[in-house]
Amino acid sequence: MAANGFTLAFPRRIVFGWEALRDAPREILRCGRRVLLLATRSCGVAAERLEAALRREGADVLRADGPGREPEVADVDRLAAEARARRSEVVVGLGGGSVIDCAKAAAALAPNSGSAADFLEGTERTRLLARAPLPFVAVPTTAGTGSEATKNAVIAWRERALKRSIRDDRMFAAAAVVDPSLTVSLPPEVTAASGMDALTQLFESYIARGANALTDALCESALPRAFAALPAAWADGGNRAARTDMAYAALTSGICLAHAGLGVAHGIAPALGILYGVGHGAACAALLPFALEVNRRAARAKLAALWRRCGGAEGGDDDDAVAALIARVRDLCERLGVEVRLSKLGVTRAAVPELLALASGNSLRSNPREFAPGELAELLAEAL
Ligand SMILES: [Fe+2]
Repeated sequence: MAANGFTLAFPRRIVFGWEALRDAPREILRCGRRVLLLATRSCGVAAERLEAALRREGADVLRADGPGREPEVADVDRLAAEARARRSEVVVGLGGGSVIDCAKAAAALAPNSGSAADFLEGTERTRLLARAPLPFVAVPTTAGTGSEATKNAVIAWRERALKRSIRDDRMFAAAAVVDPSLTVSLPPEVTAASGMDALTQLFESYIARGANALTDALCESALPRAFAALPAAWADGGNRAARTDMAYAALTSGICLAHAGLGVAHGIAPALGILYGVGHGAACAALLPFALEVNRRAARAKLAALWRRCGGAEGGDDDDAVAALIARVRDLCERLGVEVRLSKLGVTRAAVPELLALASGNSLRSNPREFAPGELAELLAEAL
């Protein structure tokens, strides 16, 4: 397949490696000395280390606790107000995807007037950011969303029961500091859910319509590693090589999805969250085998090549290779104790139309194949 043309856009700097947190103060102070640090409560030790190191360098640090759930408009508004009041020069998000998105959105909102709700995509009040965001530094402590590498922040607007992005080319992190050692204390369930999110993002961006030679190369380097590393990190949180491979998978998944787009699993996953309260990673895991099944013809050659890269048998035709790959994904989910039967998550045939009405058009548009009207509902009902 001829490679699509592409435009590349990344965080300005990416610092990756075990104990990379040590380099975070230098990256942050490059952006400013008045620092607003938003950190997940469960990452207290890392946040304290970072805060102490910044203070030793003479920084003025205001620390705030992350919302402890997916960020909402009110959380972003509150944090942006703090940044304005303290005349913060740089916003740091240390935590999982939710904290990173909340900090990224607050950095974007702070120099602008209004509420985060004014900047969410696709509403009647959507505005563009008039002023450039404050510099933002991402320090992920889970290996999943890849939000450290993207230019959008997903924010829930509770009053409207909406989950949308604030997105702007200027919202890329000034620096993404990716330290896999910060993930060693994650419990197995979080390792599984966040890891399956990264894996799903890699799979979907690999076969997405916007895939290009560069995203292909990244997916091909990350997916085989992630396949092996996820069960190893799940079984032994202290496995340094596995944690490093998963942090790499998450980072590359963010880069790839930002360039190539996603597909049907990410299209439907938010609806599983809204209707059944299923977390994003668990929803992605449940939908990944389905997404591969419905795209197996459209993406056959790439999926078969990927299976061979993952150590799958060389013999057999492409159909056999894709079938083996999908079986391996199902095995992995089973091993991690992740539910892949949508019916077990509460989805009924009668609920399928409502579920699809809430699906994200963006992700469905980049799926490798289109669906005729009613086709996706039929396929999903069959897969329950
Ligand atoms: Fe995701």
